[in-house]
Amino acid sequence: MSFTLSPVTPGFVAEVGDIDLAQPLPQEDFALLRQAFTRYAVLVFPGQVLTPAQHLAFSGLWGPVEKERTLDPKATPARLSGEFADISNLSAEGRIWGESSRQRMYKAGNRLWHTDSSFKRLPSLCSLLYATTVVPIGGHTEFADQRAAYDALPEAMKARLQGLVAEHWIVHSRRRSGFEEFNEDEMKRLPPVPQVLVRTLPDSGRKSLFVASHAGRILGMPDAEGRALIDELIAHVTQRQFVYTHRWRPNELVMWDNRCTMHRGTEYDDLRWVREMRRVTISDVANTCEQEGVACAA
Ligand code: OGA
Ligand code: MN
Repeated sequence: MSFTLSPVTPGFVAEVGDIDLAQPLPQEDFALLRQAFTRYAVLVFPGQVLTPAQHLAFSGLWGPVEKERTLDPKATPARLSGEFADISNLSAEGRIWGESSRQRMYKAGNRLWHTDSSFKRLPSLCSLLYATTVVPIGGHTEFADQRAAYDALPEAMKARLQGLVAEHWIVHSRRRSGFEEFNEDEMKRLPPVPQVLVRTLPDSGRKSLFVASHAGRILGMPDAEGRALIDELIAHVTQRQFVYTHRWRPNELVMWDNRCTMHRGTEYDDLRWVREMRRVTISDVANTCEQEGVACAA
């Protein structure tokens, strides 16, 4: 192994050192990184200087790159090309966004606990977020381990959750964060989708919860009861013992497993400081109902 792997927590987060992600990775190294990713769901790569093309090339090793952004570029002009989610606080012109800009209202949803793209029928395997400019106060990213949280559930709850399917819809999370104005094109492209509440990760064999603020209902359950169960599970997963807070350094890439983690951004003075980050999102192999062999009508 030519790189170093330093656990940050015993089984959730590790830092990868002595690796240059701008260079093509020897196959053996990639195989070892895959093993590390199976064990630790969050990998931190400090000290990376990457062009967008290099960021994309490394990301593409993990699977198909999502190419379409959630917001309609006609309604919200994008600063970056379609393969990148813009996690900065900049407008398309590269200046700090306006206080009531559409980008800012929409991105406020990133402060809720979520997992990327669970509102898409084909959800995500992992995200690779690269930071070039970070802020001095706040602007951290917190991660919660849904595998450890599943393991800690009482047996009766595990039995209750088996086979349940939640409806994930971007509108659920955005309503909660105060963004209501999706246009017709966005609503059409982003219908509610089914995802199981408990999944088995094929690489490790571990079970994981799969909840997020995008989940709003549980199929076959009265709305209020489903909502209460989702809220209870999110509260369970995000207890301190399952959470790691990442404090960003400039030129750092962090990748996480969207199948078994949640994350959220913490507050910072976004009208004062520039925070420059871009994310590549990699698709999973299939919808989670399909992966689990659970029938769902939706
Ligand atoms: C993301 C995200 C939160 C943050 O990149 O997917 O939710 O810290 N980021 O900005
Ligand atoms: Mn996110």
